[in-house]
Amino acid sequence: MNRSITLKYLNGEDEIEVPRERRKGNGKTLKLTGASGNNLKDVDVEFPLGCIIGVAGVSGSGKSSLINETLVPILKKKFYRSTDKPLPYKEITGIKNIDKIIEVDQSPIGRTPRSNPATFTGVFDDIRALFEDTPDAKVRGFKAGRFSFNVAGGRCEECKGAGIKLIEMNFLPSVAVPCEVCGGKRYKEDTLAVHYKGKSINDVLEMSIAEAYGFFAKNPRISPKLKALVDVGLGYVKLGQSSVSLSGGESQRMKLAAELFRKSTGNTLYVLDEPTTGLHFADIKTLLGVLQQLADQGNTIIIIEHNLDVLKSVDYLLDMGPEGGRRGGRIVAKGTPEQIADDPASVTGKYLKPML
Ligand SMILES: Nc1ncnc2c1ncn2[C@@H]1O[C@H](COP(=O)(O)OP(=O)(O)O)[C@@H](O)[C@H]1O
Ligand SMILES: [Mg+2]
Ligand SMILES: [Zn+2]
Repeated sequence: MNRSITLKYLNGEDEIEVPRERRKGNGKTLKLTGASGNNLKDVDVEFPLGCIIGVAGVSGSGKSSLINETLVPILKKKFYRSTDKPLPYKEITGIKNIDKIIEVDQSPIGRTPRSNPATFTGVFDDIRALFEDTPDAKVRGFKAGRFSFNVAGGRCEECKGAGIKLIEMNFLPSVAVPCEVCGGKRYKEDTLAVHYKGKSINDVLEMSIAEAYGFFAKNPRISPKLKALVDVGLGYVKLGQSSVSLSGGESQRMKLAAELFRKSTGNTLYVLDEPTTGLHFADIKTLLGVLQQLADQGNTIIIIEHNLDVLKSVDYLLDMGPEGGRRGGRIVAKGTPEQIADDPASVTGKYLKPML
């Protein structure tokens, strides 16, 4: 991370600004009553839709129990027939006011070293089609599949197109080393001999997302997706960077970018549990920008957080407590960040007040 960004922030020149207005939501709500799992004390809660809702409270106060273990499984069961069992509750109303739920966590975007931003966003399909259309490919009779690394043909068989090999080590995370056969180039020589605008398929995968955005700027299928990745601050990541090497925060922003370019229905509920864990404040600012965009499209975001820069930026706050464990499990305050700041019952409010 650039040191000057850190300095600017510490000097207050690059602050995360408090939004001038709070969204009021679309008037519809999702209402959960009688949540009583883990330490929850028969909690009734109403989530205003079409805005950003922060869920605050000390560790162990019941945030995850209420959101991830009660609300989310109820909705996943409804929308995806998931079999995860929600913690006990009495009733839920207003599900008809949303049409899907998406948990945006920090888990990797793909399970194999061959998954990367290009495959995850789907731009790789379009890129392979461009390679198929080149004169170089035509004379060789290469089809798009030749440029795939999921099937044998054009890829290096030693590393199966990953370019790296994972060496398993006892008690330690596995280590990635370049494949000794292709030298990290993922493909066979004759595949690499095919050029699109002077670049081989491996050259394209080695481009940063920002470079690739420039290179494919005129392509109407590829450029909007790359733009979304640049917008969430991932322009520096390589297009072909293995998903196993992306940090949790990068994976999470990759998923948010995918949401930005997907045709949004404007009725999606996004759930994030402590997304700023491990993020630098410049990244937090970017993350908040993306969440604001999603809310501007009409979507609802529930974000569990301790970070005060995030809490001061939401439209509506639920403060859980008053303590962790047995002495927690209640909603002690709710309202806009300003209302929470003035609420003597809220510990979060005390910390929030000087920031507003
Ligand atoms: N699976 C579980 N079984 C029993 N108690 C649990 C379980 N998960 C969490 N708890 C307890 O419930 C309380 C609330 O936990 P949690 O919802 O994770 O809080 P938070 O997300 O606010 O940190 C804590 O006291 C925690 O120890
Ligand atoms: Mg938690
Ligand atoms: Zn190889």
